[in-house]
Amino acid sequence: MSDNLVEVRGLRVHFPIRRGLIFDRTIGHVKAVDGVDLDLARGQTYGLVGESGCGKSTLGRALLRLIEPTDGSVFFDGVDVAKLPAQELRRTRKRMQMIFQDPLSSLDPRQNIESIILEGIRAHGLVDGRTLSRNRIVELLEAVGLSAAALRRYPHEFSGGQRQRIGIARALAVEPDLIVADEPVSALDVSVQAQVVNLLEKLQQDFNLTFLVIAHDLAVVRHISDTVGVMYLGALVEQAPSDDIYAEPLHPYTRALMSAVPVPDPDVEDRRERILLSGDLPSPANPPTGCRFHTRCPWRQPERCDTERPQMRLLRPGHLVACHYAEPIAAGTLRPKSADEVAAEQGVHVASTGGLDAAELLDAGRDQAATNF
Ligand SMILES: Nc1ncnc2c1ncn2[C@@H]1O[C@H](COP(=O)(O)OP(=O)(O)O)[C@@H](O)[C@H]1O
Ligand code: SF4
Ligand SMILES: [Mg+2]
Repeated sequence: MSDNLVEVRGLRVHFPIRRGLIFDRTIGHVKAVDGVDLDLARGQTYGLVGESGCGKSTLGRALLRLIEPTDGSVFFDGVDVAKLPAQELRRTRKRMQMIFQDPLSSLDPRQNIESIILEGIRAHGLVDGRTLSRNRIVELLEAVGLSAAALRRYPHEFSGGQRQRIGIARALAVEPDLIVADEPVSALDVSVQAQVVNLLEKLQQDFNLTFLVIAHDLAVVRHISDTVGVMYLGALVEQAPSDDIYAEPLHPYTRALMSAVPVPDPDVEDRRERILLSGDLPSPANPPTGCRFHTRCPWRQPERCDTERPQMRLLRPGHLVACHYAEPIAAGTLRPKSADEVAAEQGVHVASTGGLDAAELLDAGRDQAATNF
């Protein structure tokens, strides 16, 4: 038995862009996921981070085949899910569950909590829902920190954090091996986020689950992840054990993301390296050639960065980076350009600076950047 519960190879999900009223023509494709290899080790948590729109949800859904992949394989326990016939897919899918960002929209408002959990089980044809004892449902509720009193209540009677707990109980009811949690705390108040993250961590240990936790916030996945992967425009750019990637991010994009997170210690904060990215995330319908990050990268080098797509390479034990110049960047022998210089090279302006220089802009946007990169 492989140590990996899931092995993703060469995964692509391209959405057609259609135009035309009479003749439905495909005029291009949104390359939401464009060549991803990824392993989920059994009983571990993989944190997937990246800006909004970089393809995290599409990847999570393609993994469960809630979206048909355009190309590539998703091996779940050794079986290629991407090629499974419908009947077998159904059986496999009950071993994989998804937790969504907005618990309210994923819980039927007309059903009480008991029937919501039973429904989840029936939908998988696992058992006749009625045979699932009420004790078992109470156990599930207790596992997520809710009491038996919740059984007869309706979703609107709960807070956001409690509703997310109900969504988690429903996912656990079918006893899955894999849970994909897509931005599980993004819709919650900051004060509740940590509680739900801690709950996920506890459940992962108690039930020996394998987790893919998707977030746009580095802080969310930091403590629960064994491995962290950073995505940019449909591809992974860096992957490493969680401690390593936070201690020494090696890809320019990851470095920029990390540099936007304020440090509580004022002395460290003053000395903190700050990297401001110029320009917006390019469109996945028309991604840059070569390294997809070259239009914003402060370390971009002529020719190679623009023409040759970097592959993931092992730079340190367990630490993969997709950058041609990762070594000289790590050694400090290649110096970064400022955001203004990068913008000038690309013929774009640093987004609406309103006369602020890069450092001021970063200060102004730092709090926001820390929670919402
Ligand atoms: N069903 C769809 N049809 C067309 N484009 C889509 C669809 N779903 C997502 N996209 C596009 O794919 C890209 C990645 O989206 P998504 O996976 O939701 O990113 P993330 O979860 O990282 O924010 C975005 O440009 C998005 O607009
Ligand atoms: S390959 Fe070039 S453009 Fe891409 S991240 Fe590395 S230095 Fe920057
Ligand atoms: Mg998403």
